[in-house]
Amino acid sequence: MNIAADLVHLSYCSQARTGLQAADLDKILEISKTNNHRDQITGLLTYSGDIFIQFVEGPKASIDHLMYRLRGDARHKDLIVLSEGVEHLRLLPDWDMELVTAQEAHGLLRDALRESDRYGTVIALSRLLAKLQPELYQDLDENDNSG
Ligand SMILES: Cc1cc2nc3c(=O)[nH]c(=O)nc-3n(C[C@H](O)[C@H](O)[C@H](O)COP(=O)(O)O)c2cc1C
Repeated sequence: MNIAADLVHLSYCSQARTGLQAADLDKILEISKTNNHRDQITGLLTYSGDIFIQFVEGPKASIDHLMYRLRGDARHKDLIVLSEGVEHLRLLPDWDMELVTAQEAHGLLRDALRESDRYGTVIALSRLLAKLQPELYQDLDENDNSG
């Protein structure tokens, strides 16, 4: 699942619906793994302090469809796209949709950063995750004058 025609990535943050339960999260992950496998989408989801940050990559048509469904999903609101762009290689070719903590994502990004020539993608994702846990990302922020 590494190479796909018209591969794009997209990341967004959103606010979880008030009172979202662990069981709701389980259902989201279950349907995500099934659908994403079908739609050739890979990525990760972090959930912390009622904020979701999701990174998805896949064929443009699949990502467009997913975004349409996500915008209509009442389990979250205030969805804001943080980054999107055309890619050549997947960052997470083996993950239909993994729920990770910001710390786990941080480690993953460090590895990807070392191995990837898609530096722009990794930096974009690092900045998103910095919004969740700024104290982990001071070394990246030091080089970031863009705000
Ligand atoms: C934070 C969040 C992340 C989600 N991520 C995915 C995903 O990666 N893939 C997916 O198919 N559905 C995901 N969903 C669920 C979709 O919004 C939608 O419910 C699901 O795709 C089934 O749509 P359908 O019933 O219209 O077929 C997510 C929902 C939420 C709230």
